[in-house]
Amino acid sequence: MAADFIAPSILSADFAKLGEEVDNVLAAGADIVHFDVMDNHYVPNLTIGPLVCEALRKHGVTAPIDVHLMVKPVDRIIPDFAAAGATYITFHPEASEHVDRTLQLIRGEGCKAGLVFNPATSLSYLDYVLDKVDMILLMSVNPGFGGQSFIPSALDKLSEVREIIDDSGFDIRLEVDGGVKADNIAEIKAAGADTFVSGSGIFGKAKETDPHRYDSIIRQMREALASVDR
Ligand code: DX5
Ligand code: ZN
Repeated sequence: MAADFIAPSILSADFAKLGEEVDNVLAAGADIVHFDVMDNHYVPNLTIGPLVCEALRKHGVTAPIDVHLMVKPVDRIIPDFAAAGATYITFHPEASEHVDRTLQLIRGEGCKAGLVFNPATSLSYLDYVLDKVDMILLMSVNPGFGGQSFIPSALDKLSEVREIIDDSGFDIRLEVDGGVKADNIAEIKAAGADTFVSGSGIFGKAKETDPHRYDSIIRQMREALASVDR
């Protein structure tokens, strides 16, 4: 099993001081930065693009940046995110006319590629492309907003994907996104996830000035993860 990655979603961070927020959450022990890109078309919300990704790199962020594209179409913007310093680029298969081509485009740009599945999206999109995928992201909410509740059926879907990955022998991360908190992260790991996105569960905690304000929540998550032997 791959090591657990805690991936704070900066969607819930204070955008007026984003660099500092990312520094603080990484110093608190987070592993990767989850970067939600929304276009007010594929999802009904509008967020941040490659300029902000590049700004974080220029600010000095060296941790992996996990770009979650909730945009349609996807191909045009991929080289821009690669140039801006993205590590992972994941997209929703419904948002691409040619899923195989988009996966190849991401890897061709030197990034790790991933497919994202909405709660109602069939896993059949994986059937012919597993060898081109570095990350599978299961949404445990419908995409578009932070702060929603975890949809329990995601747990069965996680177990299903865990089996697909293990049977395939490929090195693929299994990420979950939406409603992940310190109090449900253990059962989510037990179902098969190894990468845990949490926005409001981490950043929603406090808007204070203490640079260590994320230490205790990340420690709680880490302890909950350690309690699951998998
Ligand atoms: C939702 C985004 C998530 C969101 C998660 O569309 O993809 O990454 O920020 O937020 P929480 O953890 O608050 O559900
Ligand atoms: Zn996300």
